[in-house]
Amino acid sequence: MLNLLKTRRSIRKYKDMPVEEEKIDIIIKAALTSPSGHAKRGWKLILIDDKDLLVKLANSRGQHSEFLKDAPLGFVLAIDPDDAVEWQVDLAIMATIIQITAQSLGLASCWISAENVVADDGSNMEDNIRSILNISNNNRILCMISVGYPDEIKKEHNEAKFKYSSVYLNGLIQNYRKKD
Ligand SMILES: Cc1cc2nc3c(=O)[nH]c(=O)nc-3n(C[C@H](O)[C@H](O)[C@H](O)COP(=O)(O)O)c2cc1C
Repeated sequence: MLNLLKTRRSIRKYKDMPVEEEKIDIIIKAALTSPSGHAKRGWKLILIDDKDLLVKLANSRGQHSEFLKDAPLGFVLAIDPDDAVEWQVDLAIMATIIQITAQSLGLASCWISAENVVADDGSNMEDNIRSILNISNNNRILCMISVGYPDEIKKEHNEAKFKYSSVYLNGLIQNYRKKD
């Protein structure tokens, strides 16, 4: 698991290759194992494999979402906050599980923020996504996840650079010391 996590990087360039149905199915199954507050499972996981929609969604923000247009697959993570105790947390967990599962299948991914994001043209990104997908205003959108076969290579996370200064022992006075 640690090796898998170390190799996961945010990849924004994808090969022009579809993702196999079996892999999509595994990602969806994994996502549906996500824990949620009070087991409410209020998430709405929207799989996007339609090129026109991917292009439109890629333009929903601008610079920081445009790479979605070249991904074969995207996920939009939506929820009605009334269906969750902590809607952002429920969706963030699911997004993370999608990313790690994609990585385990030889795929790559990137998180694209949506919640309360102002698009490059000043519009509201969540409104833009709701309008593209024809979904009602009671649905909030935390993020989208692009998925595909990587067409760029990034170095894996280097253990020597892990931010151990953020790790404490028994309170915030004492830093945790890594066992060598
Ligand atoms: C909450 C969150 C929001 C993010 N939003 C975006 C985004 O809108 N666009 C983007 O290109 N990357 C986005 N990222 C990816 C981060 O830039 C990336 O995770 C970070 O630079 C660390 O790089 P790594 O994922 O390769 O380890 C987001 C990541 C997280 C966790």
